This record gives sequence, structure tokens and C-alpha cells, in this order.
Amino acid sequence: MSEHTPTIEMRNVSKHFGSVIALSDISMKVDSGEVMCLLGDNGAGKSTLIKTLSGVYRPTEGELLLEGKPTRFKSPAYALDAGIATVYQDLAMIPLMSITRNFFMGREPTVGWGPFKRIAWKHADRVAKQEMAKIGIDVRDPGQPVGTLSGGERQCVAIARAVYFGAKVLILDEPTSALGVKQASVVLRYIAKARADGLAVIFITHNVHHAYPVADAFTLLKRGTSLGTFRKDEISREEVLNMMAGGAEMESLDAELAEFQRSDQESKARQNGNTASLPGGPQQAYAAGDQ
Ligand SMILES: Nc1ncnc2c1ncn2[C@@H]1O[C@H](COP(=O)(O)OP(=O)(O)OP(=O)(O)O)[C@@H](O)[C@H]1O
Ligand SMILES: [Mg+2]
Repeated sequence: MSEHTPTIEMRNVSKHFGSVIALSDISMKVDSGEVMCLLGDNGAGKSTLIKTLSGVYRPTEGELLLEGKPTRFKSPAYALDAGIATVYQDLAMIPLMSITRNFFMGREPTVGWGPFKRIAWKHADRVAKQEMAKIGIDVRDPGQPVGTLSGGERQCVAIARAVYFGAKVLILDEPTSALGVKQASVVLRYIAKARADGLAVIFITHNVHHAYPVADAFTLLKRGTSLGTFRKDEISREEVLNMMAGGAEMESLDAELAEFQRSDQESKARQNGNTASLPGGPQQAYAAGDQ
């Protein structure tokens, strides 16, 4: 039963930048059809970890295995060719370029050959529209600039592109951090779909409420080290939250918030007291002027 090979695995990976140890002895594996959520505070090493997986950095120590084979990527382009697609929060799209152009981004389908070779725009537009429709986003005109889409829809174009070009591993660095609740849910739903399509997904977020519904497992990073990987059935939402923020910090935050609430209520009570003491009160004054 334990014979299966993880889609992607890192073994004892460390990454140093001069004297800064950004990652120390990290091991993690993600299977096909699984969402691994990478959690940790600012500076914990999350982005460094995924940049090591996606060919931006080479590990100082340790190894990467893609479908069981030890791998080293010379650059992100090699990682992409090997099936590791990474969606960065801000760099995912070029706002002034059309949806179709962003979707294909250098991999446009062509017709003809030699000097007659040109991009098959009609076909490209059709594919872009169709792939977006598959995830429930109805693009009227795939020629419209990506900048006209909402943040969540833009993230979805980037994810749709990765899926369309046959990625095996989908890495998402905080795709939901700048989004409102509704847009974030569009992206989360799509992450679930990528999992159902058999991709191995690595999802970085600071938000436990985004992580918990879609994750199958969590890896918690703290100052470059791993606090461990937990399957969802081994850990509750509250436990994840506590480990991320550190129990003591959460307690002091709780106390602070309670204090805010108390002083807020006090000042509201004071205001109400003042209003009540005005002759007639504001509403009456307005009603009188209206007549
Ligand atoms: N190119 C670099 N050169 C030197 N130090 C770096 C470099 N990249 C990252 N670091 C350091 O490595 C540590 C981990 O950074 P990283 O960006 O991976 O954190 P993160 O978990 O993604 O944080 P955030 O949640 O803020 O995005 C930080 O202390 C950072 O200063
Ligand atoms: Mg980061």
C-alpha cells in the first residue's frame, strides 16, 4: 500500500542566503489529488520553499523528487516544462493584455509554417473562453484586457492556464490574500477542482479559514523549520490557528481585542448619553426641518 510514489517530494531541503538560513531540513511530500496547505507567519520560509520547488532557487542541501525521480531545475522554465506550474499573487497576469494572451503567454497555437506561420487567434480565443467557462466564469470577450476581470477571476485565469497545459503540480502563493470573501471562494472552489483533476496542489495562505475547507494536509513552517505535517483529521481548525500564531500570542491578542471592545462600548455609551441629552434629539430636529 505504501508503494505509491508522491507526485512531488522534498527531502531534507535547506536553503541558505549567505548567513540567513531561510529553510532548514524540510521534508514534505504531496500526492496526486491532494492539497497541501503551507502555513506560517511572515518570514517563515513559505515563499522560499515554493521557489525552491519551482526552480527559482536551488537547494543548498537536500533533494527534490518529481514522481520519484531526483530532479534539479536550472530555471523556472524547466520546472514548468516538467509540469510544475506556479501562480504568484501579483505576477500572475499582465493587466493590459487580453485574457487570451495571458492564458497562452508565449505558448500561443500557430497555423501555417515558415514565413507563413502565425498565431491562430480564433482558436486561441475559443480555448480561453471554453476553459474559463469550465470553471464557471463566463467571459464574453476573451479579447478584453485581463485588467477588467476581478482579482479572483484573474487568479482563475492563471490556474486554468496551468491545468490546460497539463501541470502535475500546482503551486499557489497566497492566491486569496487580496480577495474578498466571494472572490476567495471562487479561487478555493477552483483549487478543489484542480485536486479532483488529479493535480498535486501546494497552497500558501495566512488565512486558516481559506486553508481549512480545501486542504487535505497542513505543513507548518516556523523560522525556516517545519513544525510537522498534519492530516486534516488529526488537527482542528483551532489547533492549526494556535500553532500558526503561537498559543501565547493568541491569548494576548484575545485580551487586547476584549479591551478594544470594552473601550469601544464605553465611548458608544458616552455618545448615546450625549445625544439623549440634546433637546429634542437629532431625529426630531430633522423631522421639523423637513416640514
Ligand atoms: N533572496 C533572499 N536573500 C536573503 N534572504 C532572503 C531571501 N529570500 C528570503 N530571505 C529570507 O528568508 C526568510 C524567509 O523568507 P520567505 O520570503 O520565504 O518568507 P515567507 O514565509 O514567504 O513570508 P511572507 O509570509 O511574509 O511572504 C526571511 O527571513 C527572508 O528575509
Ligand atoms: Mg511569502
